[in-house]
Parts: sequence; C-alpha cells; structure tokens
Amino acid sequence: MMLEARHITKSHPGAHSPVLYDTSLSVAEGEFIAVVGRSGSGKSTLLNVLASLSLPDSGHVLYEGEDITTATEARRNALRHRDFAVIFQQHHLMPYLSALENVLLPFMASLTPIPAPLRDKGRDVLTRVGLAGRADALPGQLSGGEQQRVAIARALVRDARILFADEPTGSLDSATGDDVMQLLQTLNGGGLTIVMVTHNAEYASLAHRTLHMADGCLRPA
Ligand SMILES: Nc1ncnc2c1ncn2[C@@H]1O[C@H](COP(=O)(O)OP(=O)(O)OP(=O)(O)O)[C@@H](O)[C@H]1O
Ligand SMILES: [Mg+2]
Repeated sequence: MMLEARHITKSHPGAHSPVLYDTSLSVAEGEFIAVVGRSGSGKSTLLNVLASLSLPDSGHVLYEGEDITTATEARRNALRHRDFAVIFQQHHLMPYLSALENVLLPFMASLTPIPAPLRDKGRDVLTRVGLAGRADALPGQLSGGEQQRVAIARALVRDARILFADEPTGSLDSATGDDVMQLLQTLNGGGLTIVMVTHNAEYASLAHRTLHMADGCLRPA
C-alpha cells in the first residue's frame, strides 16, 4: 500500500468527543479516492493527518510502509515538500506574486533566485493546467477556477506522488468545477494518486472509490 492510516483517533481541544475515532484507510498507488460526509464530520481533520500536516492522538500513518507519525519533524517536512501536495478549498495564493511565482513558491524560500530550468518547469506546469500565457498574471487578474488551477500547478511542480485535495471545486461554479475535475482525472491518469474531499456526489462518482465519513469513521459509501 502506498498510504495506510491505522486506527487513527484525533480530538480537537475543547471538543467533547473525538473527531476521528479508530479510522483506518488504505490507498493504493494510482488510486483516486473521494471522501464525502456532512459538514463537521472530520474530513479536513483526516486529510491533515494523512498529509502529515497534523499528528493523530493515537494510531499510525504509514507511507510506503514507513511510519510517518513517529518520524522526525525533519523527515515529515521532507515528505511534505517532496511527495505530498495539498490543495485547500481556499487556494492560498499570494496576491502580490504572479501566477508563475505562486507556482514556484515552494522553492522561493530556499532558492533565490529561482534557477532558469525550474522557472521553465513552472511554465510547463502552468501550460499543463491550461494557463499558458497567464504566467505573469496576478491572482486578482485570474478567475476563481484559474486561481484554483494555479494552486494545482503548485502541487504539480514538485512531482508530488500523492495529492490531497480538500474540496478543490468548493468555491467554483459548476462549469469551472467540471474543468478542475477533468484536470484531476487527467493527472490521475498520468499516475498521480489522489485523495479528494468533496460535497459533490457527481464528482465523487468520478473517483475509483468513495468513502463516507460519519461518527469519526470511514465506511464504503
Ligand atoms: N482547530 C480546531 N479546534 C477545535 N475544533 C476544531 C478544529 N478544527 C476542526 N474542529 C472541529 O472538528 C470537527 C471536524 O472538523 P473538520 O474541519 O474536520 O470537518 P469537515 O468534515 O472537514 O467539515 P466541512 O465539510 O464543513 O469542511 C468540527 O466539529 C469542527 O468544529
Ligand atoms: Mg472541511
């Protein structure tokens, strides 16, 4: 298995009962999994634990057999920067940086100036998401769907192996949401493993498998 969550339990401070309770999940390489469930059921909490953005209270997450819940912070950081990519519902683009600079943001802290081959790769990735020619646009000059595609391009520029997408179409109209879904399917066809949270039943049905989050647990939908 590429990614395995085993008996994950997680509470938030001040909450009465755990948000995640003995939740397990296996993701095979190349899979496209949809996670559905009512608002507040713990989908984002689960995604954050899977992507190693937060730690569970108990249980383990294994990536390629390696327990990343007991790994060092440096190791978890390396995975977050290399193998894992996350798209949030809010795309978190920097308003004063161009589309290309936003795509290259993961490298900007460590590599300034950005080497030319990496800039070229950033442009390639923007082309792949249908934004050739908009590399220099600021987020404010792009539509919501275009901004979301910049966020996807940022996930792609690092050749991540797993994409965690938290309601990637949540703020988009249906036509633009369809475009983003089509892009995710194409990327999955190219080998990218995807775990996507969605409230849209039609989009969930495009995944290989849908899991339903309720009472702190995932069940086949
Ligand atoms: N940082 C936090 N501190 C305290 N409680 C939190 C925190 N984050 C989430 N919660 C609570 O945990 C529960 C699960 O939240 P989560 O964001 O995982 O739900 P969700 O399924 O993603 O919902 P939505 O569909 O609305 O995005 C909710 O009851 C929420 O209020
Ligand atoms: Mg959520």
